Amino acid sequence: MTDHLKHLRIERDARGVATVTFDVQGAPFNVFNDEVIGELRAVIDALERDPPRVVVFRSGKPSGFFAGADVNRIQQLEHADEVRAVVDAGHSTFARLERLPCPTVAVIHGPCLGGGLEFALACRHRVARDDAATKLGLPETSLGLIPGWGGTQRLPRLVGLRQALKMILEGANLSASKAAAIGLVDVAAPAESFDAAVSQFIDDRLNGRSARHPTRKLLDTLLDATAPGRAVVFAAARKKLAKKARDYPALPAALRAIEAGYRSPGAAGYHAEREGFVSVVFSPVARSLIGLFFQREKARKPSTWVRGTKPATVKRAAVVGAGTMGAGIAQLLAFNGVPVALKDISEEIVAGGMKKVAALTATASSKGLLTREAADDLVRRVTPTTEWGPLAGCDLVIEAVVEREDVKRTVFRELAEKLGPRAVLASNTSALSVSRIAGATPHPERVAGLHFFNPVHRMQLVEVVRGRDTGDATVATLVELVRKLGKVPVVVADSPGFLVNRTLFPYLDEAVRLVLEGVSGEEVDRAAVRFGMPMGPLELLDQIGVDIAADVSKTFAALTSDPGPVPARFAEMVAAGALGKKAGRGFYTYDGDRRGKPTEWATPRRARRPEGAAAGELSEVQKRLVYPMINEAAKCLGAGVVAEAWAADLAMVLGTGFAPFRGGPLRTADSLGVARVVRELDELRAAHGPRFEPAELLRHTAREGHGFYADTRALAHV
Ligand code: NAI
Repeated sequence: MTDHLKHLRIERDARGVATVTFDVQGAPFNVFNDEVIGELRAVIDALERDPPRVVVFRSGKPSGFFAGADVNRIQQLEHADEVRAVVDAGHSTFARLERLPCPTVAVIHGPCLGGGLEFALACRHRVARDDAATKLGLPETSLGLIPGWGGTQRLPRLVGLRQALKMILEGANLSASKAAAIGLVDVAAPAESFDAAVSQFIDDRLNGRSARHPTRKLLDTLLDATAPGRAVVFAAARKKLAKKARDYPALPAALRAIEAGYRSPGAAGYHAEREGFVSVVFSPVARSLIGLFFQREKARKPSTWVRGTKPATVKRAAVVGAGTMGAGIAQLLAFNGVPVALKDISEEIVAGGMKKVAALTATASSKGLLTREAADDLVRRVTPTTEWGPLAGCDLVIEAVVEREDVKRTVFRELAEKLGPRAVLASNTSALSVSRIAGATPHPERVAGLHFFNPVHRMQLVEVVRGRDTGDATVATLVELVRKLGKVPVVVADSPGFLVNRTLFPYLDEAVRLVLEGVSGEEVDRAAVRFGMPMGPLELLDQIGVDIAADVSKTFAALTSDPGPVPARFAEMVAAGALGKKAGRGFYTYDGDRRGKPTEWATPRRARRPEGAAAGELSEVQKRLVYPMINEAAKCLGAGVVAEAWAADLAMVLGTGFAPFRGGPLRTADSLGVARVVRELDELRAAHGPRFEPAELLRHTAREGHGFYADTRALAHV
């Protein structure tokens, strides 16, 4: 019986085509949960009883085919046996789908990810719409999981081992055309001719024409054909994984499941996949990564940050300052369909900004994110100007001029005069006081900070800074805009360095102190990378620019009674021209993008060897680097710079690359034990000075005997 179904619909036509449409109720995207799997089984019962000539699976949602399995459900799983039951339900259902006697076709538009792609892999054919919205992938390892519904078994068979490893271990999504190139889909057709291509494909199946075998790269076929060929590929993958495997256990688990599938195809492979899934689903790493996934979703909702205020839609925007950041922000707005005026002080500078907009767009286009025409349209949506005229009637202006308060105040005074009280005015300042900038205007409730990170197109975080007088409506509008731009907003209070730079800076400062004490720069950076940071702090300083770090260190030094030796060290480096990567030398030498050897600034004359660490423990250098970040994040939370622990953690992961598998600095404190962190900070304070004094909130949390995430306040909305 299929007429009681809620999420699936089955229609049969006179030619013998059964079309099954998924439209999961109560969800913006199709997701697989127990109910949907149950209904799919009922549909398969019907198809088995009365087989049609062709079965076509479609999504009834414009948002896409399938976003994946319901992550909420995965998070609720409590026992290994419960996990096994969920995995088995998918395995057996998809196996029956695979065994249907007639051709089965998945018609794919938009996202086709995770469990959704595993479903499509169990169909005999896949036809995909070729446009920017369509992406196919198995992102499970990015959540600390492995594909659990046959992905580790069917994908390698279809596209070859090399391509499958890339998709599963790197979580790489493919466009429809790339998917066609490796044989993942039979046909990729542009949106205009998609319906016709699908009809043709179905007609061909009805007429019994044999489908052209999806093309596969020759090398992949050769490597897959023999055990020694596969051994080469597996060995290369294992070598590539070696470093990450310790921190991300899902990676070796996925690899083992894939290998098992080759060693003993059939039931044993699926069994290995299931046990691999069970082995990682309760790991702290999966918990952190799934936690971050939900935190992102939550941060993107305006109601998380402000209640009872409807955000206004930004229809037209302007960016003032066409430098690195201004050009990046203008391009991002235009990419997301918002027309934008880009203003600077001279025609040449504006032209330079437009060049950057065009270059960013060309890169996006070459990655298949937009077509040539869409790229041209995008650039046309940006109006270069040195005048105020094109800014008239904008709902939002983002200021990205030089980091000087006097200049910014002048710009804001003029903006308020020219644009009137309706427009929202936002500053991209990285450290200046938003409240003081807002003070230059008669409507400070319409002013806020909107702190993008560099490079704008790549960095996901935007800090929305609430100044003293910023109104809720302004915050809601900016949060909604950031969401629309595909980024993740975190609302923070106006304090020097806001949340991310303020929390990061003590870590950078400590790294330089360690070098001054005699620890080699390479040792410092290595310790940070081992902890899970994407690069070491000294290399990061080289990327930021030592001159910029010197400026920031002055801002922070002004706030403490003991600025320490680092600002002076930065000043020396600036005087010596060791400005970092852009100058070819800083803590390291650089040859273009390539990092070379450490310079004298990272090489102490009298070196000392720091203490190592017992297995599973943090080393001396790691504690020196990481505890200041934990401490500062706790201070920010205690002072209300950020409202909840999860928001601080999310911001640090997205804004600085803080080890995602650890879930952020406060989650790290929880994992280590807050009482232990306090005790060790006290020891560090005794050895190195008052900068290690534990934050009051850390002491309080330790005394209460709970962690940041057990705290009901922190969990209230998660
Ligand atoms: P930049 O030096 O590349 O660009 C600044 C632009 O502002 C220049 O083109 C300059 O001609 C223009 N400008 C100066 N006065 C102006 C005025 N009165 N009207 C219009 N344009 C004017 O600087 P960048 O790096 O783009 O930084 C801009 C802002 O973004 C600064 O507040 C900076 O602190 C902040 N920021 C920078 C980040 C970075 O990594 N570069 C990261 C996050 C924020």
